[in-house]
Amino acid sequence: MHAPASLDRRRLLQLAAAGSTSLWLPRGARAQRRWTADPFSLGVASGAPATDSVVLWTRLLAPGAQSLGGEAVAVRWELAHDAQFSRIAQRGESLAHPELAHSVHVEVPGLEPDRWYFYRFIAGDAVSATGRTRTLPQPGAQVRRLRLAYASCQRWEHGYFSAWRHMLAEEPDAVLFLGDYIYEYAGASKAVRTPPGGWADSLEGYRRRYALYKGDAGLQAMHAACPWLLTWDDHEVQNDYAGQAPGYNGGTEPEPPGGFAARRAAAYQAYYEHMPLRAAVLTRAVAGLATGAELRIHDRLRFGSLATLHLLDARQYKDAQVCTAGGRHGSSAVDPALCTAWDDPRRTLLGAAQEAWLDAGLAQPQAAWSVIGQQSLFGQRDFRPGPGRAFWNDGWDGYGAARGRLAASLQRHQVANPVLLGGDVHENWVGHVLADYARPDSAVLGVEFCGTSISSRSAGNAKTAERLAENPHFVFADAERKGYGVVEFTPAALTTTLRVVDDVTRPETRIETLARFSVQAGQRRLERV
Ligand SMILES: [Fe+2]
Repeated sequence: MHAPASLDRRRLLQLAAAGSTSLWLPRGARAQRRWTADPFSLGVASGAPATDSVVLWTRLLAPGAQSLGGEAVAVRWELAHDAQFSRIAQRGESLAHPELAHSVHVEVPGLEPDRWYFYRFIAGDAVSATGRTRTLPQPGAQVRRLRLAYASCQRWEHGYFSAWRHMLAEEPDAVLFLGDYIYEYAGASKAVRTPPGGWADSLEGYRRRYALYKGDAGLQAMHAACPWLLTWDDHEVQNDYAGQAPGYNGGTEPEPPGGFAARRAAAYQAYYEHMPLRAAVLTRAVAGLATGAELRIHDRLRFGSLATLHLLDARQYKDAQVCTAGGRHGSSAVDPALCTAWDDPRRTLLGAAQEAWLDAGLAQPQAAWSVIGQQSLFGQRDFRPGPGRAFWNDGWDGYGAARGRLAASLQRHQVANPVLLGGDVHENWVGHVLADYARPDSAVLGVEFCGTSISSRSAGNAKTAERLAENPHFVFADAERKGYGVVEFTPAALTTTLRVVDDVTRPETRIETLARFSVQAGQRRLERV
């Protein structure tokens, strides 16, 4: 029954692999196409940097103009040392295939380490915006400074994406995006704006949703400014989905044609089409083709001797949530005393293969800082004041045994300076990572910064003080303001600045600093500065 789908998938893998390397096309393929609208309307992006290569991305889409139809389009690309493209480092050609939504993913090889480059695409008489990207330093190189901006959760209906325009001025070396790049919803109550097209639940629907989001000028500018390091969360597919299990959208959502497996496969394909990822995320899947669509997005990047980033995928391989209210799919608050499966050690958030991969990575010789970029809040958060407990079952709290295994990994390998970065909760939470959250006096293993959202709503600060008092391993929380964080690493210390906009419901905003923290290397102690 799945024969046509797997044939399609094989073709997709072939196209992705072929598209990632540069071609020299026959002259005829390069016929001068004259565009009546800008085919680079979704901008440019780069990502997956290595010491000697980087991925350049664009997708041809000319709104309101001639359809690109079913034909492949030849796209030239140039990468240069300067913004004027007078000193070209590399150039080549690629074909934008209709099967991959006319996206282009070029993996440029042979670059120098620790360098900034400029790039652009050319199709017919159209030239894209100029992007700027960089390679990583050599693993052993002495790196004095790294600026990482981290962000997550941009719900179109809840606000404008002006935070990206402010992030430009921070001049980060890279953006770490921690999930919920799109939302699949048909709309929202008290919406600031409504995405056209209803629910995103098919390949066409997800493509339209990405195209809508990527039309945002601020988001485009930030993609063009530096490489992005990407992981995803649930809304790139469906609210609260877990591995192969569907999530839940309040019972209002129509059943997608083909069921959840087809929906997930479509969503994953659209994600690949719109992100600067290597073709290897498709072709080197962990579980192989037998399980259908898979994207191996967990990854490890080394910034010389200064930092290693372990970028996790806590959505694709996770076991389903347990004890959700009403016995339905998806998430809810759960009293662990009433849930026999709560501490089941067999339950996994990362999947066995990724868990082993992370443990092996933490066992390797360490950089000064070991950064773990993942989707959600790591530390325990008890919502019920006083005796009794209530935890959200979708995040790490719902996977206590898996959290314990990661903590044990950090201890076993004596990881000196772990820094967890997260998203998902739409609130800023800053805290100490404990060896065992059931024992408040247990060892402090590292620090955690869980970010707010770019635009997605949160409940406000009515209960924030109470929750901080209930969960004293956290030193700061804010459930109101939207924005992003910037971490600056040096060999001696890190400084994290929480940046927030004044009003996300207006297109133009002002930015300010909500709070700033530093951690001295070797100390594992947050200081407010
Ligand atoms: Fe979110």
